[in-house]
Amino acid sequence: MKNLKKYILAIESSCDDTSAAVLCNDIVLSNVVATQQIHEQYGGVVPELASRAHQQNIVPVVHQALSKANIDKKELAAIAFTRGPGLMGSLLVGTSFAKSLAIGLNIPLIEVNHMQAHILAHFIADKDQKAPSFPFLAMTVSGGHTQIILVKDFFQMEVLGETLDDAVGEAFDKSAKLLGLPYPGGPLIDSHAQEGNPKAFLFPKPKVAGLNFSFSGLKTSILYFIQKKKSENPDFVKDNLNDICASIQYTILEILMDKLKLAVKQTGVKQIAIGGGVAANSGIRARLVATERTMGWKTYIPKIEYCTDNAAMIGIVGYYKYLQKDFAEKNIAAKARYVLE
Ligand code: KG4
Ligand code: ZN
Repeated sequence: MKNLKKYILAIESSCDDTSAAVLCNDIVLSNVVATQQIHEQYGGVVPELASRAHQQNIVPVVHQALSKANIDKKELAAIAFTRGPGLMGSLLVGTSFAKSLAIGLNIPLIEVNHMQAHILAHFIADKDQKAPSFPFLAMTVSGGHTQIILVKDFFQMEVLGETLDDAVGEAFDKSAKLLGLPYPGGPLIDSHAQEGNPKAFLFPKPKVAGLNFSFSGLKTSILYFIQKKKSENPDFVKDNLNDICASIQYTILEILMDKLKLAVKQTGVKQIAIGGGVAANSGIRARLVATERTMGWKTYIPKIEYCTDNAAMIGIVGYYKYLQKDFAEKNIAAKARYVLE
């Protein structure tokens, strides 16, 4: 089966991006993402508005993915979709659409765990990225999750640690909000940080045992810091934005790197792969590349379009599940809480 060309349509709608992709085996032919701008004015994702926007976007996005790939839907071998985790209303749109289309075309349906997809995005065949070999450590850093996972095989994963409160993407976004930056603030902190001094201000690192994370304390200490500084100089944030962003980003990256070092020490595995929206951060990409020299690690960083939410990563999981004939029943339901096992 591996030598035959199999076209898979993949659908992702777990949060605020409506995405569809067409893969030919492990090669991405198209990967269309409609990002919902509506949430910007509310400073965060509004679930009700997200599901309504998915309803509007899903048909044109799927059409665009098929026409960019130059594939007729009759040529599809299977449909893969994000079953969870995510916002229930958002997941329902993609799930219902995928089920209906699979029934209509009479082809297999493949359910995909979104977090597993962030990890397996590394296996998309692309000249600009390389795939890790097993076993490797994956760190998924997104707006909803922060986990360190020991990946033994495509579908054999063990969660070694995760956040006890906020996800790292939330830490970026909430810090940005405190600085008056619009949502999502992660990319904005990243760009300001590139112009600032990472050691200008010092924020405390949380003390959490083992490989778990905590980011809620950081947000509180940034809040108090800004309140105090603003009482001395109302323009403090404006005057020091680049340095504040650089210092916040430095603290977050230190927290992530400390845990990665511990994970390597505990497992002896020196191959590190990152995934999730925060993996688009220029600072973390640079820090990881540097560890190849300083720590002797081998690091794997997906292309940015495969880091933030996208359907191509759902498609690659779909392809590997297709090879195993791991198909879902057509009455399958979305799962807002879908633990990685
Ligand atoms: O994986 P993702 O697209 O969606 C979720 O599944 O959550 O991740 C979105 C998160 C947001 O918190 C966003 O601010 C963050 O990724 N993000 C970044 C950067 N690009 C996206 N955070 C820091 N630096 C970036 N360059
Ligand atoms: Zn994600």
